[in-house]
Amino acid sequence: MTKRNNRNHQSATSPVLADRDIHVWECDLTATDDRRDTCVDLLSGDERDRAGRFRFDDDRMRWVASRAALRCVLSRYLDKTPGQIDFYYGANGKPELKRNSGGLHFSLSHAADRALIAVTRSAPVGIDLEKLRELPDRDAIAAAQFSEGEQCQLRQTPAADRSRAFFSCWTRKEAVIKATGEGLAMPLKSFEVTVDPDQPPAVRSIEECYGAISDWTLLNIETAPEYIGALAVRAPASREVSLKQRQFVAEPTACCEPVSGRIPCQPTR
Ligand SMILES: CC(C)(COP(=O)(O)OP(=O)(O)OC[C@H]1O[C@@H](n2cnc3c(N)ncnc32)[C@H](O)[C@@H]1OP(=O)(O)O)[C@@H](O)C(=O)NCCC(=O)NCCS
Repeated sequence: MTKRNNRNHQSATSPVLADRDIHVWECDLTATDDRRDTCVDLLSGDERDRAGRFRFDDDRMRWVASRAALRCVLSRYLDKTPGQIDFYYGANGKPELKRNSGGLHFSLSHAADRALIAVTRSAPVGIDLEKLRELPDRDAIAAAQFSEGEQCQLRQTPAADRSRAFFSCWTRKEAVIKATGEGLAMPLKSFEVTVDPDQPPAVRSIEECYGAISDWTLLNIETAPEYIGALAVRAPASREVSLKQRQFVAEPTACCEPVSGRIPCQPTR
């Protein structure tokens, strides 16, 4: 991410985002370690203040890299430079774009050295990424945060597959609460998702105020090994949303390169 890139954001490679498209950008947050200052240059004053409050340098730089990447990605869909983008924040902290932003919805998730950024015009979207790891308190977290049905699905999963199934459920639930914008203000036990990472994801139940389960599409996001990702969009699968994954490359002349083509929407049930 250089100042030159900041100026040339409207290049010939600006992505075309059709109404039903969802673009997911995969970011390696270590890729800009040698360009820390140029990343910081893209941030707003309040973002720099927030960066300054991180206790550990590594955490600060991963966060700065994720915000800079978010700005660069969004700038490709808007008639703005990365530094010109204004975020405002919902009641529960969801960053959003101003109304005159062409109906663009986005969501960001970071985990360890990676981030995912989802962009769509179709409907509010949420994305979540987790690094697979052993959690000593996994069963206690599931008991506290997962619905009875999800806990039951987890118990029925063979022990060797349970850790992945746990994170599959976690990321799907987080994606939903990020799509609604409520974050943890939406009780995690108040809705249910499918748990098995190898089966098509779906919302199984949700409170009426968030629509019917058929109003929701959940997708698995295949990303780097040892990571698991999920995306939720409040748009029915029958509308055939189309997912495209792209690699975010922070180069002076090519900010991005597609890594995969059109992937049909997975059936949700
Ligand atoms: C903030 C929250 C929405 C997601 O946090 P998270 O999973 O820890 O972190 P992620 O990297 O996936 O997402 C953080 C991003 O979500 C976005 N975000 C913040 N609040 C949000 C909200 N209310 N709605 C949607 N997106 C939100 C921001 O872009 C944020 O990025 P930033 O930190 O760079 O500003 C919230 O769900 C949370 O704190 N979760 C804690 C994790 C937990 O206990 N999970 C239990 C799972 S069963």
